[in-house]
Order: sequence, then C-alpha cells, then structure tokens
Amino acid sequence: MRTILLGPPGAGKGTQAAVIVNEFHVPHISTGDIFRYNIKQGTELGKKAKNYMDQGLLVPDELVVAIVEDRLQQEDCKNGFLLDGFPRTAPQAEALDNVLEQMGVSLDKVVNIEVDKEKLIKRVVGRRICKDCGATYHIEFNPSLKGEQCDQCGGSLYQREDDTEATVSKRIEVYLNETQPLIQYYQAKGILAVIDGEQEIEEVSKGIVKVLGRES
Ligand code: AP5
Ligand code: ZN
Repeated sequence: MRTILLGPPGAGKGTQAAVIVNEFHVPHISTGDIFRYNIKQGTELGKKAKNYMDQGLLVPDELVVAIVEDRLQQEDCKNGFLLDGFPRTAPQAEALDNVLEQMGVSLDKVVNIEVDKEKLIKRVVGRRICKDCGATYHIEFNPSLKGEQCDQCGGSLYQREDDTEATVSKRIEVYLNETQPLIQYYQAKGILAVIDGEQEIEEVSKGIVKVLGRES
C-alpha cells in the first residue's frame, strides 16, 4: 500500500496515521516529525527547518524532497509506505512522481481529510503530545485519562511550539495557497478519496481503512 494523507493542519493526519500503520504494517513517513527530530538533535537540517516552522511557513522544497527521496529508497519502504505531510506543494508532488517512477511503483490512494477551519484552530491549540512515545491527545476531544501524563507510557505531555493560534492561522493560509491545489492534482489521476474528518476519531479511522481496503 502506497498512500498519502492529505489535509490541513489539525485535520487528524498524525492521529489517523498511527491507526493506518498499525493496520497495514507500512512505515509512517511524516516530514514534520523528521524535522522535529532533527531540531531536537540539533542538526544542520534542524536549524534550517526551525526558522520556517516557527513562522508557520513551509521548509524549502529542495530540503524536503531530498529527505523523502532518500527515505523512500530504504528497504522498509519496498512493500509500501504512508506519507503524512508530504507532498505539500506542486514541485514536491512532481518530485514524488519522479522518484516513484524510478522505483517502478505508483501511488494507490491519496486520502484527503476534510475539516472546517474554525475546528482546525481549536484542535491544534488544544493538542498535547507525549514526549516519550509521540502519542497525540487533545485537552477536550481526546484527553489523556492520566491528566498530564500519557495513557500509553506514562510520559509527560507537551505542546508543540508551532501550536499557537497565530502560527496555526498562518499554517492554514499556507495550506490553502500551496497544498490545497494538490487535491485537484490527485483527483485528475483518479486516486483521490475524501474523508469527513469532523466525525469521531474512530469513525474517521473506519472510513480510511475502508477506502484503503483492509489487508487479509
Ligand atoms: P506537520 O508536522 O506536518 O504539521 P501539520 O501538517 O500542520 O499537521 P499537524 O501535525 O498540525 O496536524 P495533523 O493533521 O497531524 O493533526 P493531529 O492528528 O495531530 O508540519 C509542521 C511544519 O513542518 C510545517 O508547518 C512546515 O513548516 C514543516 N513541514 C512539514 N512537512 C513539510 C513539507 N512537506 N514541506 C515543507 N515544509 C514542511 O490532530 C490534531 C489535534 O486534533 C490532536 O489534538 C488530536 O487529538 C485532535 N483530533 C484528531 N482527530 C480528531 C477528530 N476526528 N475529532 C476531534 N479531535 C481530533
Ligand atoms: Zn507516551
């Protein structure tokens, strides 16, 4: 299964990616997670990416494309992958097409998760993440039963630096200008599936698993 999760900030891409990789046993490739890991490690890539991420802007295409090209050619992507947060611009989508062509494979589905703008801001501002296992919570919509600690591993929860109302508004604006046109791009290829992301988390998961076709 070779799939892309498309959708604005806060649509639920990361939340649903956790379900999909568990169901279909493919690696989860999140460009946002890769950048955050590099920032934490203090790498050159992390330093470059941080400037853009803090402002809610996209990291330049050439940096992102190089990382994804490299990642897709690793052994564990041979039988499939789930891309989350990539591609985000027309040049990224074209670069992805080229890499896949070179690999002799093609995308099965692009799942677009739709959510209204007002709801996105509320979701992002209330998001909390486990510092140890990366599990995602929401103070209102998906609270941890242990309060400030992760239900799964007991790790403490934190808020992403770019999860302020001002930054998320900018990220949504950038999404509308740069990323939304990709919906049309994949629709024209006949591989787009649209999911109502305003349903309960479990219902969204069911819808996605259905369009991807459960493995037997
Ligand atoms: P990235 O990390 O990709 O962030 P994003 O796209 O802004 O998406 P989010 O992680 O904010 O949201 P999500 O859709 O994963 O939602 P989640 O499941 O957490 O990118 C960050 C930055 O990195 C970018 O701004 C850019 O600078 C850079 N970058 C990354 N990729 C790049 C690229 N390709 N090119 C250039 N730059 C790039 O859910 C959100 C909240 O809602 C959670 O609290 C969750 O619990 C809750 N929730 C989820 N589903 C539901 C539901 N159904 N009902 C109620 N609540 C829900
Ligand atoms: Zn945890």
